[in-house]
Amino acid sequence: QILILDFGSQYTQLIARRVRELNVYCEIHPYNNLPEITDDIKGVIFSGSPCSVREEDAPDVDVDMFRGKVPVLGVCYGAQLMAQKYGGNVLPSEIREYGRARLSHVDSHFDLMKEISLDSQVWMSHGDTIKELPKGFDIIASTPSVAVAAYKVQNELTYGIQFHPEVTHSEEGKILLRNFVVHICGCAQEWTPDIFAETTIAELKEKLGNDKVVLGLSGGVDSSVAAVLINRAIGDNLHCIFVDNGLLRKNEFESVLESYKGMGLNVKGVDAKQQFYDALEGITDPEGKRKAIGRVFIEVFDQEAHKIQDVKWLGQGTIYPDVIESVSVKGPSATIKSHHNVGGLPEKMNLKVVEPLNTLFKDEVRNVGRSLEIDPNILGRHPFPGPGLGIRILGDITPEKVAILQEVDYIFINGLKEKGLYDDVWQAGAMLLPIHSVGVMGDERTYEQVVALRAVTSVDGMTADWVDLPYNFLQDVSNDIINKVKGVNRVVYDISSKPPATIEWE
Ligand code: XMP
Repeated sequence: QILILDFGSQYTQLIARRVRELNVYCEIHPYNNLPEITDDIKGVIFSGSPCSVREEDAPDVDVDMFRGKVPVLGVCYGAQLMAQKYGGNVLPSEIREYGRARLSHVDSHFDLMKEISLDSQVWMSHGDTIKELPKGFDIIASTPSVAVAAYKVQNELTYGIQFHPEVTHSEEGKILLRNFVVHICGCAQEWTPDIFAETTIAELKEKLGNDKVVLGLSGGVDSSVAAVLINRAIGDNLHCIFVDNGLLRKNEFESVLESYKGMGLNVKGVDAKQQFYDALEGITDPEGKRKAIGRVFIEVFDQEAHKIQDVKWLGQGTIYPDVIESVSVKGPSATIKSHHNVGGLPEKMNLKVVEPLNTLFKDEVRNVGRSLEIDPNILGRHPFPGPGLGIRILGDITPEKVAILQEVDYIFINGLKEKGLYDDVWQAGAMLLPIHSVGVMGDERTYEQVVALRAVTSVDGMTADWVDLPYNFLQDVSNDIINKVKGVNRVVYDISSKPPATIEWE
């Protein structure tokens, strides 16, 4: 594997993704919390950083631990750190070195730069620049304004680059990373979804033995893939629980339960609608709703889990971005995000936790799901929040409002599917607004509710943009909703991007 040392760059996760796209396994670790260094580590990449190597307490690492022992690639800050450490000179750059630049000099006979073309576009993002290299360091690429775009240490597999090969704007960045990871480090490109599934199932068998595991299914991709992996390892010793919190999409509980059963999972559906409605009665504050929903979920889940004898483990669908964040360099305490849907569950239940997906990115989870032949309808589903329609009904929640919103949401989502638009959208849904507006329907005046439709594109939910859905589609959906859903006489479409407007309205 490749070890990526994180100095806090916003791009560190991207480096990991690019390496994995080469079918090579890699892990990110904060520079100040190194893992055990084993022979499995075939190369090390130092990430960029928002800090400057010239700062007093700049992030630092003992480079000699790696240098000369395994190939090392410093990216941006990582390159500057090594240059500075071994006697070079790093200064604030005189001209701005942000954005695109083109390579004006490339020593392509050097392994790192093989097949990188002269004039290739690279992406720069740094305030400091390497003015002078240490003795024994050679320039292997330059741009018109950055002489040391890339360097190599003589007689050693140690390299530095001041641009960012991991961003797609660096046109041949992938080639450069392939040169490093595959040719220089000699990593075999064997880390595929099939291999991941196979080895994970074997590891789970070993780890879990005859123990019983309980896992909460949500209908989403992560928990489903996690369940299938564990199920393939221990069969019916995995007990899945799927809770109907009364805030799911229309027919979701029944249809998802059916498809889980079809996948051979030992799953119990629990109708807890009333418990959730009771707990939510009169609550209007979004955080209050989330807390109430989370609390009842834990109660219901715990109660069900206790009906199973001798459970030792809690299975969870936690994925890699939940575990790492680039901000991890701020200190170990910031490294772990609690999994927001079931936060508090492991503590409450006093079980050991098994999280087979905690090294994977979302798209990798989908690929593993495909390799396990999980229903494409489950793998391709839009994200749906744990509190469900509860945070899409503004104001207090009643079963009647849920029923209205379920109908609206169904028409919208079904329409997207029928028109082949579903897969172009990252997430979509409808919000039931706490306002009434006047309508004329036939000879009558109505005073009914307004719904807002929202459809966004996004990569990770952190930022999002509204989707420019075809007008005639919106028109049809609007007509359908107003004609079919009693209680709604007005439909609006949300054209706000995030930031500032979050995807959910609450
Ligand atoms: P926002 O609304 O913050 O949402 O732009 C970003 C992504 O997170 C989902 N979301 C939640 N998921 N529990 C969840 O499991 C929550 O409380 C929650 N709030 C928002 C949202 O659907 C989107 O995918």
